[in-house]
Amino acid sequence: MKWMYLLGLFAGFSLPCTAAETVSPALDDKPAFIDSLIERMTLEEKIGQLRLISIGGDMPRPRILQELAAGQIGGTFNTVTRHDNRPMQEAALRSRMRIPIFFAYDVVHGHRTIFPIGLGLASSWDLDTIARSGRVAAIEASADGLDMTFAPSVDISRDPRWGRISEGFGEDPYLVSEIARTMVEAYQGESPAAPDSITASVKHFALYGAVEGGRDYNVVDMSPMRMHQDFLPPYRAAIDAGAGGVMVALNAINGVPASANSWLLRDLLRRDWGFRGMTVSDHGAISELLRHGVARDGREAARLAIEAGIDMSMADSLYRDELPGLVQAGEVEIGVIDAAVREVLGAKYDMGLFHDPFRRIGVAEDDPQDVNAESRLHRAAARAVARQSLVLLENRGETLPLEKRGTIALVGPLADSPVDMLGSWSAAGVARQAVTLRQGMREALGDAAVLLHARGANVTDDAHMVDYLNFLNWDAPEVVQDPRSPAEMIAEALAAAEKADVIVAAVGESRGMSHESSSRTSLQLPPSQQRLLDALKGTGKPLVLVLMNGRPLELGWAKANADAVLETWFSGTEGGHAIADVLFGDYNPSGKLPISFPRSVGQIPTYYNHLRVGRPFVEGKPGNYTSQYFEEPTGPLYPFGYGLSYTRFQISDVRLSSASLPRRGRLQASVKVRNIGRRDGATVVQLYIQDLVASVIRPVKELKAFRKVMLKAGEEREIRFSIDEDDLKFVNAQLQRVAEPGEFEVQIGLDSQHVQRRRFELQ
Ligand code: BGC
Repeated sequence: MKWMYLLGLFAGFSLPCTAAETVSPALDDKPAFIDSLIERMTLEEKIGQLRLISIGGDMPRPRILQELAAGQIGGTFNTVTRHDNRPMQEAALRSRMRIPIFFAYDVVHGHRTIFPIGLGLASSWDLDTIARSGRVAAIEASADGLDMTFAPSVDISRDPRWGRISEGFGEDPYLVSEIARTMVEAYQGESPAAPDSITASVKHFALYGAVEGGRDYNVVDMSPMRMHQDFLPPYRAAIDAGAGGVMVALNAINGVPASANSWLLRDLLRRDWGFRGMTVSDHGAISELLRHGVARDGREAARLAIEAGIDMSMADSLYRDELPGLVQAGEVEIGVIDAAVREVLGAKYDMGLFHDPFRRIGVAEDDPQDVNAESRLHRAAARAVARQSLVLLENRGETLPLEKRGTIALVGPLADSPVDMLGSWSAAGVARQAVTLRQGMREALGDAAVLLHARGANVTDDAHMVDYLNFLNWDAPEVVQDPRSPAEMIAEALAAAEKADVIVAAVGESRGMSHESSSRTSLQLPPSQQRLLDALKGTGKPLVLVLMNGRPLELGWAKANADAVLETWFSGTEGGHAIADVLFGDYNPSGKLPISFPRSVGQIPTYYNHLRVGRPFVEGKPGNYTSQYFEEPTGPLYPFGYGLSYTRFQISDVRLSSASLPRRGRLQASVKVRNIGRRDGATVVQLYIQDLVASVIRPVKELKAFRKVMLKAGEEREIRFSIDEDDLKFVNAQLQRVAEPGEFEVQIGLDSQHVQRRRFELQ
């Protein structure tokens, strides 16, 4: 591309040229190059760089082009084709300073090919697999002219009522941090400047997953120790991995909205963590400072946000309208504006846009004829990743895998619903390209067996809920009710079940039920689906539940009544194939839960790495005055790290290379893992550590390492972990990361509950 612009420049063509070419002597020197731009920019042009606008909103296209050409916009989001982006970039390059814009989008779990949602990806416990999904997403998104994604979403959450729990990677700081790093590296590739890379903008900074009561946008109140120990590490991991951007959360933290929180954005993010990159507000968050009640008016909101350290304002006009006046009145120093502009230009520089503003847009002749062409999808990768994201929760009497013969009744509102396969934030994914379970099973079976299908129930019969779900931001209403009566639908399902050898019921949530602004008070299946399951159970036929959902659900009934339960989350474009692979044993499930499943909503929060208490509940000792809810068993229904396989694994006692660990030394902890079943399979060996006595209360255990291992039937392998002082560090009452001498317990298991233990001493 670039030679064409240079040619155009020298030959006097009217092709747009770039800021780089007008000041090219300094292009290789980033700080000097950016300073030279800032020196020559007017205040209005500077403020223009701080505006990130959504395309498709209220502003008509000609007006957008006009504002771009006037240098009043720094970046846009929500367009997903080169064809759409090219004229906008051309308009930006007609501006006086010829500064390119960047194009962003919510590429959260895939772009055109949709991978499993965050919880599903995390269930693989396989960083290479997760990286594969991120790399494919970057390749597809960059090929559509995108430069940046608002991802990864690394908010730790312990509250499944929160709909956005689906977007993150679960409850554990270590696992989520590992995934955060992996995703940033996958999106950004060798460098964010590479044509097939997109810049990662980690979100939502910070603590969004801890909104009170799991109600979206609610406040967060949290002790600094807990923040630093449990909730902040994943953001830090993303930043240490080089994330070019940070999206600031919508919630308040200890009384101060994140968007006006200079402790968060200046002291912690930039000073303590050394972040060098661009911060963006979340959608409309700066104007929300008025509703938070910390700003009297738009002018004050804009001042608070820029001074707190928000470089770009997303989808509101306050920076444009208010910053000029604030600077002229001396209420905001020009240095504050310049610093924000420097970060935005720096991010564009790092994206490679000054070197070639069209590096991801290319030339019109190369545009795909059909952006949704099959050839542009990465189905094999999606299927491979999705298979690893499935978690087998129950398998009584080896109900699964199913044989490919006889008659199978497939029922349930999610058995054949393409859009729900995709999950929320499905970027440019297209529902009709998603493989449903019905389609996946039909293909797997061919002529070998009869597959009967009946919907059996609507996802919900609650008209208010349907209205709400259809009111979310989709292109079209997507919860489409079957007009038949519940009784009629159940009767149809029962008729199919009666003819079948086994029933597969695909139940759970429509994708909008686990989404932004989709907080729930209940974790149960909606009554319409539970009634269907009750009726199916009455047939006495083997019942396999295939769950599709974006949060831990209450599964007491399923555990007690179903013969097998497979958690599939929202598994993406190839979900139907992947689930069929597992149902029929063409793939042996290996997923493990990245989050605890509480027994009931009343047990929230239920998380494995909880702090110790003075009166702990002791299993088998029913006495009063211990920490428990008395009407229900204590502890999760399914613990963190749990998941079955079609084979069985056994682990040996833990061996330690020494009973003590010298500071700056290392200790080896090892177990032997044996596949004692008849099939080859993979499992995840998990290493937890407990600090037995410390200056502050420490959790009962914390994940410190894990290894996914593939073992042939009968095979045994020794798995070794290396432990050092760093693994023993925690945040003390003075907020220092320290390892205190004393006794520690290593716990190794195939889930967080059933572990082998051994102690050692830190000297
Ligand atoms: C969400 C963000 C998202 C942004 C842009 C907001 O409503 O909170 O996660 O990146 O919209 O689409």
